[in-house]
Amino acid sequence: MDRPAWAPAGVDMGQPSPARMYDALLGGSHNFEVDRRAAQRGSRLVPDLPRLALSNRAFLRRSVRFLVEAGVTQFLDIGSGIPTAGNVHEIVQECGSDAHVLYADIDPIAVAHSRAILVGDDRYRAIEADLRDPADLLKRVVATGLVDFAQPVGILLFAVLHLLSDDHLPAAKVAALRHAVPGGSFIAISHLTSAQRPEDAAQLGASSAAANGVGIHFRSRAAITALFDGWELVEPGVVELPLWRPESARDRHEQPGRSLGLAGVACKA
Ligand SMILES: C[S@@+](CC[C@H](N)C(=O)[O-])C[C@H]1O[C@@H](n2cnc3c(N)ncnc32)[C@H](O)[C@@H]1O
Repeated sequence: MDRPAWAPAGVDMGQPSPARMYDALLGGSHNFEVDRRAAQRGSRLVPDLPRLALSNRAFLRRSVRFLVEAGVTQFLDIGSGIPTAGNVHEIVQECGSDAHVLYADIDPIAVAHSRAILVGDDRYRAIEADLRDPADLLKRVVATGLVDFAQPVGILLFAVLHLLSDDHLPAAKVAALRHAVPGGSFIAISHLTSAQRPEDAAQLGASSAAANGVGIHFRSRAAITALFDGWELVEPGVVELPLWRPESARDRHEQPGRSLGLAGVACKA
């Protein structure tokens, strides 16, 4: 297969990546055959997987709108993914806000495509950075000059923490980020869970690791709630994706009681 113009040299087109698999699930066009096959394998095991991805995007939209209304003027979106419909900077614009948005991801295609769509607007940037090394990530964020750590920050961690194994100490990485920002900051997290449908979660996790070489770590409600430790959870707390402040029927991509994703937003006092 020829390398498309949007795929930087060095990207292994024979190995699925979480960013591209997710793009395939959402019907995007920045993915390869291996990614589409991986997404199809997952959807055969769990047929509502595409709806889970849409449900996650709908939570992203609602929570970003909530944070803009709460007065957040700078966002750090980590594990931001390949741009698709309803990106954070677009939601911010729709809300009439001038907030800065910094996207960070480890996937070179996600970063390259983000940069391509952000050209010409210096309120928004994209950097390559790894959540597993928060000190280095924060250094890269500071180097952009786009996020002022003396002012409240909206930290966004949508559908990324379940890609970190327990060995990578996800709670400690989140704690390091929370420590770096001042009072008035918020954190929004969505995370795959084994709290509902534990058998589907186990099957999907095992299949992804074996067939795609991508570890997906479904966590308990307690482990996900602990990611907000010490901050004040806004209502309704840590809940299934479709139950976090639904705005309309179009937010109901999934049946409550069956979502494989939990979500929450918290504020630093
Ligand atoms: C499932 S996508 C989620 C995209 C977007 N946040 C959303 O919720 O729609 C997960 C993203 O996290 C990125 N990612 C995985 N591990 C990461 C890490 N250690 N540091 C930064 N990004 C990471 C992947 O490259 C991918 O783009």
